[in-house]
Amino acid sequence: MNVSIKEKAQIKYSDPNQFDENNHTTEFIIEVQNLEKTFNDVKAVDGISLKVRKGELFSLLGPNGAGKSTTIRMLTTVLKPSNGSARINEYDLIKEKNKIKSLIGVCPQENVVFGALTAEDNVEFVGRMHGMDPADIKKRMNNLLEKMNIAGRKKPVKSFSGGMKRRLNLVMSLIHHPQILFLDEPTAGLDPQARRLVWDFIKELKKTGMTIILTTHDMIEADSLSDHIAIMDQGQIIAFGTLEELKSGSSNGNILEFIFSSKKELIKAKSKLEQITNVKSIREMENNKLTISFSGGIETLKRDILENMNSFKTLHFREDSLEDIFLKLTGRRLRD
Ligand SMILES: Nc1ncnc2c1ncn2[C@@H]1O[C@H](COP(=O)(O)OP(=O)(O)O)[C@@H](O)[C@H]1O
Ligand SMILES: [Mg+2]
Repeated sequence: MNVSIKEKAQIKYSDPNQFDENNHTTEFIIEVQNLEKTFNDVKAVDGISLKVRKGELFSLLGPNGAGKSTTIRMLTTVLKPSNGSARINEYDLIKEKNKIKSLIGVCPQENVVFGALTAEDNVEFVGRMHGMDPADIKKRMNNLLEKMNIAGRKKPVKSFSGGMKRRLNLVMSLIHHPQILFLDEPTAGLDPQARRLVWDFIKELKKTGMTIILTTHDMIEADSLSDHIAIMDQGQIIAFGTLEELKSGSSNGNILEFIFSSKKELIKAKSKLEQITNVKSIREMENNKLTISFSGGIETLKRDILENMNSFKTLHFREDSLEDIFLKLTGRRLRD
C-alpha cells in the first residue's frame, strides 16, 4: 500500500467556502481519527480519518472487502474499534454510545426485518424502540411507506421480495427522524427502477438537512449523490474530495475521442495533434479511434482542433470517471 497516497488523501480537505453555494454549513458533524478494526489478524479498517459536514452526503466508495461496512458498524456503535477515536455530533463514540444511538438511523448492508411481522409492525417496532409517540409513528410511517412504494404493508414481510425488504429497511432506518443517516449499500440488489426511486428519495432527504453517509461499490451511485467521496481500498482511504477534486487530481483529466474514416486520416491528424501544446498524450486505438488527454479548458482545445483538422467523423468528450480514478490509484478495477 502506498503510504504517500494515503497521507495525501487524509490531509486534503476542500475549501469550505466552496460549500456555501449549496447551503451547507462548514460545521463537521462527524470527525474520525485513525479508526482501526482488526479481526484476528485481518486489518479490516486500517487507520482511517475523515470529517463529514452537517447536511452533506458523504460516500465511502470501494470494492468488496475494502472495509466500508466495518467502518459503518463502528460509527453506528455496533462494533467496538480496535484503535482510534470518533466524535459524532460532539459525542464520543466509545463513551457516549447511547446519545449517539438516538441521533442516528442505520440501514445495514444485510436486511434486518422480522419475517413473521407485517411491514407496518416492523416499522412500528423500531419507532417504539426509539420511544416515539404511536400517533407520530403512524403518520410518518404512512408517508414513508408510500414514498418507498411498499404495497401489501399488512402482509408478513417474509412474503416480500429482496428489493421490497430493502426498501422497508430504509423506512425502518428513518422512522425516528434521525439527524444522521447511515446507509450501507442502500441500493444493492434493487432493480433499476427501484434504484432510481431510492436515489430520488435520498436526494429529497438531503434537502431536509439530514446528514447522510452511504457506502457503495457503484461509482454511478457515488457520482450522482455525493458531495464528498472517500475512496476506500484495503482498509484505507486512498483518495478524498468532491467529484471535481478527485477528477482534477487524477493524472489524465479530460479525454477526447476521435474516430476517423481511415487509418491514413488518423495518421495525418495524429501528427497535427502532436503539435498542440495542451495535448498531453495521444493513444491510437482499434477501429481508427484516437484518444487524447489534455490540460486546460476544452474550449481552447476545440478551437485549436477545429482550426487544424477537419478529417474526423466523430468527436467525443469524456471526463475521467471514478472507475478511471480507482484504476489509476490501485491498478485494479473497482469491480475486481
Ligand atoms: N466479523 C468479521 N470477522 C472477520 N473478518 C471480518 C468480519 N467483518 C469483516 N471482516 C473482513 O474485513 C474486511 C472488510 O470487510 P467489510 O468491512 O465487510 O468490507 P466492505 O463492506 O467494504 O465490503 C474483509 O476482509 C472481511 O472479510
Ligand atoms: Mg460492505
